[in-house]
Amino acid sequence: MVFLFALVACSGASSNGETQTAPAASAEVKESDSQQDGSSETTSDAPQKTETSEADKQETTEKASEPETGGTKTLVVYFSATGTTKGVAEQIASVTGADIYEITAAQTYTADDLNWNDSESRTTKEQNDKSVRPAIGSDTTSLDDYSVIFIGYPIWWGEEPRIMDTFVESYDFSGKTVIPFCTSGGSGIGSSGTNLEANAGSGNWLEGKRLSGSSDIAGWVDGLGL
Ligand SMILES: Cc1cc2nc3c(=O)[nH]c(=O)nc-3n(C[C@H](O)[C@H](O)[C@H](O)COP(=O)(O)O)c2cc1C
Repeated sequence: MVFLFALVACSGASSNGETQTAPAASAEVKESDSQQDGSSETTSDAPQKTETSEADKQETTEKASEPETGGTKTLVVYFSATGTTKGVAEQIASVTGADIYEITAAQTYTADDLNWNDSESRTTKEQNDKSVRPAIGSDTTSLDDYSVIFIGYPIWWGEEPRIMDTFVESYDFSGKTVIPFCTSGGSGIGSSGTNLEANAGSGNWLEGKRLSGSSDIAGWVDGLGL
């Protein structure tokens, strides 16, 4: 499969017969990669407090180090066109006790849409245009309760599906730790994690990892030191 995508990604025929450069699909599989005073209105003539007590200083320090949203739970977010990433996402949720949120496309991807051999297929055209943002069909969610967010997707043409860019640009990840993961036919996670981090523009993003149904997911999660 790695070899297949390495070959397929090298070139493709455009509708006008010219050879075009398809999005690079990395054949590298990185199995070892990794990676929130109670003062009330004053009516007495008590002197106003002007000094900051040690206790107040301590409280200020603690607040400064809390996640901005105050959430402490873990969420697994995923998009899966054919079920593979869904299976891995459910394993991560099981291991971590996380909640789960599925990104679905407003317009479901059909088998024809997913045909990577067709230079005119929906996915080929989307992946060839980094500005495309397919609409999300699933109800919007809130990230407020969460401090850790796993975010998973299949690799398409060596990158994240454009709908993942739609997702990360729709939410604020400030104060949250975000861990990308992917499934693929063999390609590594490549630049997809850093692409998503750049498009999100917020959050503490850890190095991502390609996973499969047989990966040591508990071991990987343990190694993240969350
Ligand atoms: C349009 C398209 C492009 C793909 N591009 C790649 C690729 O570049 N490298 C790769 O290893 N697998 C590629 N694949 C295979 C998927 O990444 C793989 O089957 C993935 O596990 C599917 O996940 P899902 O079932 O959650 O959708 C591609 C699949 C599709 C449909």
